[in-house]
Amino acid sequence: MLALWGRVSVEPAIVLRVENLRTWFPVKTGLFKPVSYVKAVDGVSFSIHRGEALAIVGESGCGKTTLGRTTLRVLEPISGKIYFHEKEITHSREEELKEFRRKTAMIFQDPYSSLNPAFNVYRILEEPLIINGIRKKEERTELIYKALEEVKLNPVELFASKYPHMLSGGQRQRVAIARALILKPEYVVADEPVSMLDASVRAEILYLLNELKNRHQIAFMYITHDLATAKYLCKRTAIMYAGKIVEVGPTKEIISNPRHPYTKALIEALPDPDPSNRFRRIKVVPGEPPNLLNPPPGCRFSPRCPYAKDICREREPELEEGPPGHYTACFLKDEI
Ligand SMILES: Nc1ncnc2c1ncn2[C@@H]1O[C@H](COP(=O)(O)OP(=O)(O)OP(=O)(O)O)[C@@H](O)[C@H]1O
Ligand SMILES: [Mg+2]
Repeated sequence: MLALWGRVSVEPAIVLRVENLRTWFPVKTGLFKPVSYVKAVDGVSFSIHRGEALAIVGESGCGKTTLGRTTLRVLEPISGKIYFHEKEITHSREEELKEFRRKTAMIFQDPYSSLNPAFNVYRILEEPLIINGIRKKEERTELIYKALEEVKLNPVELFASKYPHMLSGGQRQRVAIARALILKPEYVVADEPVSMLDASVRAEILYLLNELKNRHQIAFMYITHDLATAKYLCKRTAIMYAGKIVEVGPTKEIISNPRHPYTKALIEALPDPDPSNRFRRIKVVPGEPPNLLNPPPGCRFSPRCPYAKDICREREPELEEGPPGHYTACFLKDEI
């Protein structure tokens, strides 16, 4: 019996879970036309454990940012459920969300517009502390200096006095990360946090995010176009297409053994890591993503899919488990 106990591995707790989430934007397409909906997130389910990073990967406009913002209750879903530590918060009122707001944070793509140019770094980092009722100035100063140390902006007193325009892109993103993490959040959404940075600092910022995620055991959603950076930061990846997750599983396996035709096309579009092949023509995923006001029937990828059969245009595939922990929504996943 004891030996059996020894073998039981305890999975870290689920921090964030969503069930069948739908976020649609109402739009008027003409003066006398009824309201239509952009189905930006359309039936998405997943969970993220403590200390785990989940990558959300897909082309522009597939709903990644909308999904991230909905899980943070910045956008209201039209249906589905959001749980934080297994407590449902989908429709909680703002005054009930105080703890949720303190324990969650977002890191944005653009370090140039996400920091208030009129505030120095000290004031930028002080803002969330004041909002969350940390009244003693000495306590705030200690937290601010500690946060600057964590993101390696040393000497901290010097950086605390600087204004955003005095910093490089990489340094600004470090300040944005310090601001997001200063209250020790348990769930963080990072929306393309390195895509606007110079290639030379990208790796440093990814390294820092990975280190902080591990040190503080943060449940992390990493939104990106780029499977290569997802591989570095995230053990698990979800591939999103036209508002839906079409494949989700261990990142390594998704890259080495993609099962959905869309994932295969994304991987073929990756730049070649072999330097002698650097000038090889980079492929793009052929065709255009669908209009989310009126997505195609059946599988949404079927109009672009080289393997599509009648069933793909008629019925919508569900995510089904293939190898353990690897789910794919494709009728032809075992054939192709
Ligand atoms: N406030 C809004 N009102 C109407 N449509 C919106 C709104 N916000 C986003 N959309 C639409 O929802 C869809 C998904 O947008 P979203 O920004 O979530 O995509 P994304 O995957 O983050 O794209 P990108 O990679 O370019 O950042 C797009 O068609 C977009 O035009
Ligand atoms: Mg986006």
